[in-house]
This record gives sequence, C-alpha cells and structure tokens, in this order.
Amino acid sequence: MITGALGYVGSHIAVLLSKNPNFDLFLIDNFENSSKDTLKKIKFLCKSKINFFEMDIRNSLTISDFIKSKNIKTIIHCAGLKSVKNSELHPDEYEEVNVTGSYTLLNSFINSNNKKDELNFIFSSSACVYGKPVYLPYDELHPTNPFNNYGHNKVSIENMLNKKVRQTDNLKVVSLRYFNPVGAHDSYLIGDRPSGYPENLMPIINEVAKNKSSKLEIYGNDYNTPDGTAVRDYVHILDVAQGHLSALKYLFNCKKKSYEVFNLGSGKGISVLELIDTFQRVNKLKIPYFFGKRRKGDLPEYFADTSKAKKILNWSPTKNLDQMCFSSWKFENTL
Ligand SMILES: NC(=O)c1ccc[n+]([C@@H]2O[C@H](COP(=O)([O-])OP(=O)(O)OC[C@H]3O[C@@H](n4cnc5c(N)ncnc54)[C@H](O)[C@@H]3O)[C@@H](O)[C@H]2O)c1
Repeated sequence: MITGALGYVGSHIAVLLSKNPNFDLFLIDNFENSSKDTLKKIKFLCKSKINFFEMDIRNSLTISDFIKSKNIKTIIHCAGLKSVKNSELHPDEYEEVNVTGSYTLLNSFINSNNKKDELNFIFSSSACVYGKPVYLPYDELHPTNPFNNYGHNKVSIENMLNKKVRQTDNLKVVSLRYFNPVGAHDSYLIGDRPSGYPENLMPIINEVAKNKSSKLEIYGNDYNTPDGTAVRDYVHILDVAQGHLSALKYLFNCKKKSYEVFNLGSGKGISVLELIDTFQRVNKLKIPYFFGKRRKGDLPEYFADTSKAKKILNWSPTKNLDQMCFSSWKFENTL
C-alpha cells in the first residue's frame, strides 16, 4: 500500500513497482495536493489494473478496515504536507496531518494485523531533519536539529517509528531521508507539479523558463561557497523511486524487527549558479536572473553521504545533473 500515491514521489514509486508482477499494489490519496488527471496518467503508465482508493490517513476506522480487508503487510508512506513555508504559517495543521496522521496510520497497521505477521513500513523523511551542519557531508549519524516545523514533524515521526519498533516484535521500518528530488518520469507524463508558486529551485527555474518575461531571484551570492550561491544535493526522482525498491528488498530479507535510516541523495553539492548553467546548456535556453538577499532559514551548503545506502541497500544514484535538468523541463513541456 502506498499512501500519498498520487503525489510527486508516490506516483514514481507506484509506476516503478507496477512493473513487478509479484506486488499487489494499493494506492491511496485524499487529493489534498494531487489530481484525477495524475491518477489517469498513473493508470496509463502502469498498464496493469491499478487499485486506487480515495482515503485520508487520519481516518483510523477506514484505514483499519482497508488494511484488514486487503491484507496489507507492507506500507510505503509518502502522504503528507511538504511546504516548509506553510509549516511555519500553519503549524497545527502540519502537526495534525504529518505527525498525528503517521501515528494513526502506523497504529492502524499494527492493530489490524496479527502479532505473528511480518510488517514492513517505509517512511518518506527528509534531509531537513539535520539542520545546521556540524560536519559535511551529512551521514545518518549526524545530529538532528531541524529549524522549521516541517523538519520537526519529520523528526517526531522518525522517533515515533523507532519507538514503535522497540515496542512491537513484528515491525520493520526504514526511514528514507530524501535530499532534493528533481526531474520526472521517462514518459514525461508525471513529475513535480506544485500547487501555487513553487518553493523549490528546479520548479521555480521551470516557471521562469515558461514565463519568459520574469526573472529568477537568487537568494544570496555572498555565502562561503565556491561561487557565493547556496549549495544543495539534487537527486533524480527515478533514483529516489529505485531507493524504495531497494529498501523493500532489504526489509523483505530482514528476519527480525529493525529500524534503519538511509540518506537518498547524489552525494554532490551543486550551487544555484551551477544548476542554472546546466539547465540553460542542456535545454538550450536562457534563464534571466538577479541576486537578491539571503532567505531567512536557508543554509549555505549541504549534501549527503550516501555510503550507508550503497553498502546496505546496494543503492546508488544513476542519473546526473544533465539528465535531471533535461527531464524536469521536458515534463514541463509535455502537458
Ligand atoms: N518532494 C520533495 O522535495 C521531498 C523532499 C523530502 C521529503 N519529501 C517527503 O516525501 C513525501 C512525498 O512528497 P511529495 O513531493 O510526493 O509531495 P506531494 O505533495 O506531491 O505528495 C503528497 C501526497 O500526499 C497526499 N496527502 C496529503 N495529505 C494526505 C492525507 N491526510 N491522507 C492521504 N493523502 C494525503 C497529497 O494529496 C499528495 O498527493 C512527503 O512526506 C514529503 O514531506 C519530499
């Protein structure tokens, strides 16, 4: 069962897993940040019959009935609210959907199954959990010290999952800390489609490329980085989806209860200017930009150490920045 399956990350996982005839896939979403149109595209890409159910993770009765009736033993939990800005404006709503929602989902999962059934759970966490770097690259042992409500939500959920594993004999959990997923599916039918004006750099570059009259504001060019602009770790969405398949295999092979955390990133720091240059070169267009002030809460630089995922999950990113920029823009133009 994939929650938030019509969203950016969930839809790519759904399409990837649909290629494996051994999985019976159940997709759920409440359309909070997704559309019927995406559902149509997922159905088209999956070819096989997709089992979709409109459902809210906070509704414990419906979720419990569903888990029992479909005999769900594995959940990939992508449902949630993801705007850092809105998490500051609406902290209670974020706490309710993200933290209480995950708690409700996990409890329903445990209570709707037998104590002897092996239960597998994968959670969409974020690099936001780390906060100001004590050292770089961030590895999974780096202290967690987020500085926005969204990051605090992720830490609360991770702690809750870890505690539940300690209390439950038949539960195995992996939290995947994504860095900055970008790009789109090879069909260019599904990709990142934020509602409202985007907050993340790649969708903003797409917006500027579409709307030729606007200019991209770069928040700060006086950071202590090679070209003065902020450095981030970008990872292709197809690699992120593949990371879930690797985590599933790991959980299926794991014979005792466990809680593990893995970074999913490229392991490379890319500056805002490098990203813009690559986007312009690969897509043969100009992105007009200007330098503004630093944005409150932005870190100068962060990127992942991905050696744990490589060693234990046998996962490494396969797609480079050119491919990320190409597919991101191609998706934008394949509507
Ligand atoms: N995209 C990123 O940059 C990124 C980075 C790190 C972590 N994450 C995390 O990954 C997960 C998926 O992110 P995404 O980019 O696909 O976001 P998204 O908004 O595209 O997808 C989330 C999906 O969850 C659904 N949803 C929201 N509340 C729900 C509820 N109460 N019940 C059922 N469905 C609900 C939405 O309709 C949406 O389809 C989120 O938890 C997000 O915090 C995303």
